[in-house]
Amino acid sequence: MDKFIIKGGTPLKGTIPISGSKNAALPLMAASLLGNSPSVIQNIPKLKDIYTFNNVIRVVGAHVDFKEDENTLVIDPTHINHLEAPYDLVRKMRASFYMLGALVGKHGFAKVSLPGGCAWGPRPVDLHLKGMEAMGIDISLEKGYVIAKAGDKVEGGSFKLEPSSVGATVNLVLASVLKAEKFTIKNAAKEPDVVQLCNFLVEMGANIQGIGTDTLTIKAVDELQGIKVSNDPDRIELGTFMIAGAMFPGSDLTLNGCNPDHLGSFPDKLRKTGTSVDINGTTIRVKASDKLKPVSIKTEIYPGFPTDLQAQWATMMTQADGNSKVTDTVYFDRFSYVPELVRLGADMEVEKNTVKISGKTPLTGASVMSTDLRASVSLVLAALVAENTSEVLRIYHLDRGYESLEDKLTAVGANIKRVEET
Ligand code: EPZ
Repeated sequence: MDKFIIKGGTPLKGTIPISGSKNAALPLMAASLLGNSPSVIQNIPKLKDIYTFNNVIRVVGAHVDFKEDENTLVIDPTHINHLEAPYDLVRKMRASFYMLGALVGKHGFAKVSLPGGCAWGPRPVDLHLKGMEAMGIDISLEKGYVIAKAGDKVEGGSFKLEPSSVGATVNLVLASVLKAEKFTIKNAAKEPDVVQLCNFLVEMGANIQGIGTDTLTIKAVDELQGIKVSNDPDRIELGTFMIAGAMFPGSDLTLNGCNPDHLGSFPDKLRKTGTSVDINGTTIRVKASDKLKPVSIKTEIYPGFPTDLQAQWATMMTQADGNSKVTDTVYFDRFSYVPELVRLGADMEVEKNTVKISGKTPLTGASVMSTDLRASVSLVLAALVAENTSEVLRIYHLDRGYESLEDKLTAVGANIKRVEET
């Protein structure tokens, strides 16, 4: 297991390219299995979760060729012969559960392991299963596996997601585009990842109405053809680097290859801290202010403040002059990073689903442990502004969601080294 050694206390200056989105790529990869011919997906990041999903797709018999130097995936679904996704792979990555919708949606049968837990509390899939049952798919549970049967076609109907759920929306769309006479998803997620998936499926030949709204209506078509598409840039990586550029006086970062439209309310929130945010086409320039203002946020579903930037924002608020609050209304216990930041010198306290932060607190280097993808990158952000040297352990969490992180940070002046954890 690798770790980062980071010597903090210097501003970040220069340009960072934004990679393709992990959370947008995974649904496209699952959707490509619905086609009668191969699909080509460009702008795919070289991340652990992508390699994990490639293995899951290969297990069912599809052919996957990851042209790494071109960040391009070629997925040929025409040889699928095994309609099962095993526990040892699904437990590594929750999004493997998309195989349920893809396999039952195309082949009328699927046996997929329930996803394992994760670092912060339960992440149920009850909405995925109830929605499929509402569609007319037969769902049963057997020794930790979900068995879904849909036969040739199902009647469809309608289902309201409460709460709105990205994963459930993805799985229900995948299950219905070839199977459900007519199916309406109410309170559907509107995240860019879901919009991209729906547009991809329509280009393959699907009939989906209401794309980009919270009501999706799907009518089954007889077949879908593989297509070539370029995956969205990663809006969470983008937000993470915008925060990195805001945290230390003198930092000045230019981020290339962005889609600013996918940031929702985030840029304006960041401007409220006194940070200069200049959006120009697909480039965003962030310049740190000399005095960060405290700004409280509350996460919400898209286009509200994304929960995947909650930890990063709270970390930045340790450097603001004054008190602030960060509330997560999507995940009520996604605060595992807080005790680690306190060890670096932060003054923070969690109460229910809110962390209260008193700033500005100088941070000093320490050895800290990451516990999940966004918590781990927040520890890196903190270490970059802390005096002296920090160690961020268990960075395999980071390798799941941030492509070439240490290279990108080194290129803008950070003192960060990856070493084998002894
Ligand atoms: C997706 O997870 C993302 N993962 C998460 O990003 C992100 O945090 C989350 O959406 C919210 O935006 C991927 O896209 C691969 P949800 P997902 O279903 O789909 C509850 C990262 O860091 N819920 O939208 O699993 C759930 O408990 C990852 O990149 C049910 O109650 O999230 C949560 O409170 C972490 N029952 C809320 O809905 C269900 O059946 C939203 O979860 C499903 C969800």
